[in-house]
Amino acid sequence: MSINLLQRSALLLAGVTAGLALGCGQAGGGPYDSPGGRTYLKNCATCHGGNGQGAIGPALGATGQAQRRSDADLAAFITEGIRNPGKPEMPGWRGRMTDQEVADVIGFIKSLWTGQQRAEQQALAGG
Ligand code: HEC
Repeated sequence: MSINLLQRSALLLAGVTAGLALGCGQAGGGPYDSPGGRTYLKNCATCHGGNGQGAIGPALGATGQAQRRSDADLAAFITEGIRNPGKPEMPGWRGRMTDQEVADVIGFIKSLWTGQQRAEQQALAGG
């Protein structure tokens, strides 16, 4: 009985430690353990990198230019996707992601930006 309890606490502690290590390792303490962070890791990280550093798709984090897009533009990219001739395609999530999930993932991307980038994006019309 007491061994079970001990094992359970050890497991719990291991889980918490793993969670902390993931959060710290990936974005200097970025909020991966949030609805937006989980949506990002599940749907976007393969193409935009685990830290938003870019891969097949451009960087979305601090090294990217996504802060030049208003919230409305970012949401439109995510729901409709992006198709440009000669470039890899980004799929759209219309009907597969709720408005809340889209908003959460945008919030997560912003959490990867510097304060200056956030201010830059906020200054955009409709941003
Ligand atoms: C299959 C690969 C792929 C996946 C998955 C993907 N993207 Fe993209 N994304 C791209 C590519 C490629 C581009 C650039 C397209 C272009 O410029 O023609 C892009 C562009 C973008 C841009 C515009 C960036 C800028 O600076 O203009 C945003 C924002 C974006 N993606 C967000 C997301 C989000 C959020 C997700 C997850 C919900 C996601 N993407 C999932 C491939 C992907």
